[in-house]
Amino acid sequence: MRKLVITGALGHIGSRLIHNLRPSEFDEVLMVDDLSTQRYSSLFRLPDGVPYRFVEADITSADLGALFREASVVIHLAAIANAAGSFDIQEQVEQVNYEGAVRVAHACIAASAKMIFLSTTSIYGTQEETVDEDCSPEQLKPQSPYAKSKMRAEQELQALGDKRGLRYVTCRFGTIYGTSPGMRFHTAVNKFVWQASVGQPITVWRTALHQKRPYLELGDAVRALRFIIANDRFDNRIYNVVTDNVTVNDIVQTIREFVPDLRIEFVDSRIMNQLSYTVLVDKFRSLGFGFEGELREGIRETVMLLRGARAAARSAA
Ligand SMILES: NC(=O)c1ccc[n+]([C@@H]2O[C@H](COP(=O)([O-])OP(=O)(O)OC[C@H]3O[C@@H](n4cnc5c(N)ncnc54)[C@H](O)[C@@H]3O)[C@@H](O)[C@H]2O)c1
Repeated sequence: MRKLVITGALGHIGSRLIHNLRPSEFDEVLMVDDLSTQRYSSLFRLPDGVPYRFVEADITSADLGALFREASVVIHLAAIANAAGSFDIQEQVEQVNYEGAVRVAHACIAASAKMIFLSTTSIYGTQEETVDEDCSPEQLKPQSPYAKSKMRAEQELQALGDKRGLRYVTCRFGTIYGTSPGMRFHTAVNKFVWQASVGQPITVWRTALHQKRPYLELGDAVRALRFIIANDRFDNRIYNVVTDNVTVNDIVQTIREFVPDLRIEFVDSRIMNQLSYTVLVDKFRSLGFGFEGELREGIRETVMLLRGARAAARSAA
């Protein structure tokens, strides 16, 4: 039985993934989501012929043993995925992102399912100019409760791999850009495109304009998840998954090509710091994976999606 379970399946990444699946790849695709972010639209117009099943459930309390029965792979996307907002809801973030991930890992062990865990490059708050997966635990300096919860989950999964036979892979994804049916607009690229498209000033953290950060095009993200499954890459290791390392200025200048009259407003954030760094992806590339995404194309796609929505609203009025 080829059963794929996706937790948090209706979210930004999950929705692009589920719409990208093809008939006959799996005998069952079980989508688990508690709808806490109300992304019902992710379930609209799913491709025909894929054996989908949706269960509304919270990973922190659901009977995961029953849900994961006969699963071969579990892609664990469910999380509170808002770094900036995580300072005000630290306990909840810890409960869903850390305890939830550990609960999912235990259920994977019980079901003999392999697990893909979604971590984040925001656990690097390093002073180094470049950073890879081999940096020491002391060099990991997560800058938010969100990033801390992910780092703790990574460590617990490693222990469960060593002691309890969990087969898994951890992907440290860069900040996602690109479009999806369950899209959201609260992280750098998408948020800036939204602001520029609706005539608001782009709100840039005061220190961030010339700092390099890692980003991941959503098509690359989905291809990476599929690559791991297709090549059975459950080697209990950590991989950075990043399309480009760019500055906010690079992003703003690219948006300006499509929205020439955009304005910038500098604002404060609790995650601001003086760090600029590049996250290396040689380890994931060495498995044979090629990144295909392009920042300009991701921005163009998002601008066009929003222009289309505005044109439709105007013609309906
Ligand atoms: N988007 C990014 O830039 C980014 C970057 C690095 C890593 N990640 C990680 O990738 C994963 C998916 O991110 P995303 O951007 O799709 O986030 P998202 O917020 O769009 O999706 C998360 C989904 O999980 C669901 N969910 C939340 N709590 C749940 C719970 N307790 N039980 C069941 N479902 C629950 C939500 O309803 C939502 O549909 C997350 O683990 C996130 O930390 C995202």
